[in-house]
Amino acid sequence: MTSDQLQHIAIIMDGNGRWAQKRGLPRSAGHKKGAETLQEVVRAAGELGIKYLTLYAFSTENWQRDAEEVEGLMNLLRQYLKSELKEIQEKGVRIIFIGELHMLAADIVSQMDKIEHDTAKNDKMTLCIALSYGSRQEIVSAAQKIASLAQKGDIRIEDIDIKMFSDMLYTKDIPDPDLVIRTSGEQRISNYLLWQIAYSELFFTPTLWPDFNKQELEKIIEDFNHRERRYGKV
Ligand code: FPP
Repeated sequence: MTSDQLQHIAIIMDGNGRWAQKRGLPRSAGHKKGAETLQEVVRAAGELGIKYLTLYAFSTENWQRDAEEVEGLMNLLRQYLKSELKEIQEKGVRIIFIGELHMLAADIVSQMDKIEHDTAKNDKMTLCIALSYGSRQEIVSAAQKIASLAQKGDIRIEDIDIKMFSDMLYTKDIPDPDLVIRTSGEQRISNYLLWQIAYSELFFTPTLWPDFNKQELEKIIEDFNHRERRYGKV
């Protein structure tokens, strides 16, 4: 099903609020259903042989939503981290988290540390969860690390190259996404993996995230397999 060209899929899971609104439900109901879709898609990606899956679960901008919605999302996250660990371990999935993780509550941070540690040796698939993540912040933080090394005299300005910069990003251990999917019909990137998606194929679907499923993922992969990637060459 997957080609050698498709190792890494990154997803912007959008449309939970609209899914709930269409049904006259509170936004929290959309997030709850969205969390179920997340579980289904992680399972499906493993079955389809995807090696890396990166999910945008919470952006730095999402902190500006009202306190009740943020708290609801954090509670869903707590539940997810607790309930999924067993299946994740059984399936050989490694989990890593990227983002401004220090902004999260201490109990969530320690839960995440434990999960990263406990799953570190799993090699069937890597699930990367972007939390309190913003790509511009990530890039600024990489620039700060490099500037600090240069200031200390550990590197020379002319040593700074693409590889060094990539190695300073949260995603240093994973390859760049081959395919980015955004649900809900919005056609923008919203501060997601700006450096890493330089050559990624983009796919926008009108489906709201809670309605997304394995069949649609398979269709998108099929579409990807027919695209010609040239990386700027002829
Ligand atoms: C976008 O929908 C989705 C999010 C802001 C969060 C993604 C969260 C989940 C998929 C639920 C599972 C979460 C965790 C943390 C395990 P939206 O609220 O922006 O929808 P809208 O654009 O229709 O309002």
